Amino acid sequence: MSPPLLQVNDLKKHFPVKTGLFSRKSEFVYAVDGVSLEIARGETLSLVGESGCGKSTVGRAILRLFDITSGQVILDGKRIDDAAPGTMRQMRRRVQVVFQDPFSSLNPRMRVRDILAEPIRNFGLAKSAEDLEVRVTALMDTVRLPREALNRRPHEFSGGQRQRIGIARALAAEPELIVCDEAVSALDVSVKAQIVNLLQDLQSEFGLALLFISHDLAIVEHMTHRVAVMYLGKIVEVAPRRDIFAAPRHPYTKALLSAVPLPEPGAQRNPIILKGDVPSPINPPSGCRFHTRCPFVFDRCRTEEPTLRVAGAEQWVACHLEEGAPTAA
Ligand SMILES: Nc1ncnc2c1ncn2[C@@H]1O[C@H](COP(=O)(O)OP(=O)(O)O)[C@@H](O)[C@H]1O
Ligand SMILES: [Mg+2]
Repeated sequence: MSPPLLQVNDLKKHFPVKTGLFSRKSEFVYAVDGVSLEIARGETLSLVGESGCGKSTVGRAILRLFDITSGQVILDGKRIDDAAPGTMRQMRRRVQVVFQDPFSSLNPRMRVRDILAEPIRNFGLAKSAEDLEVRVTALMDTVRLPREALNRRPHEFSGGQRQRIGIARALAAEPELIVCDEAVSALDVSVKAQIVNLLQDLQSEFGLALLFISHDLAIVEHMTHRVAVMYLGKIVEVAPRRDIFAAPRHPYTKALLSAVPLPEPGAQRNPIILKGDVPSPINPPSGCRFHTRCPFVFDRCRTEEPTLRVAGAEQWVACHLEEGAPTAA
């Protein structure tokens, strides 16, 4: 059996922070604190949770934008968290990224043609100048932008069009996995849907895998295969889309879901209002990190950390209410 495309094992990323001017004690932001996940070839895994819970840090660790504190990131069976520069080059081609704000990630002085040509040249993918031109034009067709736009610069486009350019640039490297970090969050509702549809089409056309990071659970409802819910640096629930939306098990997932509008007009889910804000990841709460906001909290939650347990065919939940289920690993 071939290994999954991506495997993340017990990933931790703790950022050192200075607390007081004269403080000698070093403190850490426990941004990601033991995350494990897998993505199969051609699969979309959505990573959701409130702002600050560590989603982007997971994405950046996979893109290897920094050294991780501990754990493993494995691409197609090979560790990339400690990879040598030669291996890293290949891996950088295979895993691409689309960020929230294409304006800050697209060089405003470059024409679209050069923006798209850059990764093709960097990774030596074109056989000739003609091949380069063929590839660049094909990318425009793929993301449904007019070929004439190749000679324009990013500021001449709308937000949605810029995001198409960002996607084309990611595709130029012929990746197997694209990390989409809040890729549609800044767009208007109708444009959001267009970009989500485009990503879905590209996924089936090219057999791409997506790590779709979003603070908004509603946006992933119609496109994802599985959902992983994060809270304060940890995954609290992982399940296929159907189960997350029809039968969420973790109280935090239920709360996130209760804010998602139902399709029938006037229909409403039972609202679960969470108390307060997400606590600081510098001093995360003891036991279950969600206990300070959980409507179902009991004694054990304050002292003992729950582990991910089997809750359904492919559903895993880290909650003491799931008592009795076998633990993961
Ligand atoms: N470079 C950094 N240095 C210190 N703290 C950071 C850094 N990057 C992120 N953090 C902190 O880590 C936590 C998780 O951040 P992030 O992964 O961006 O969350 P999300 O993407 O879910 O909003 C936040 O508390 C954030 O302030
Ligand atoms: Mg983020």
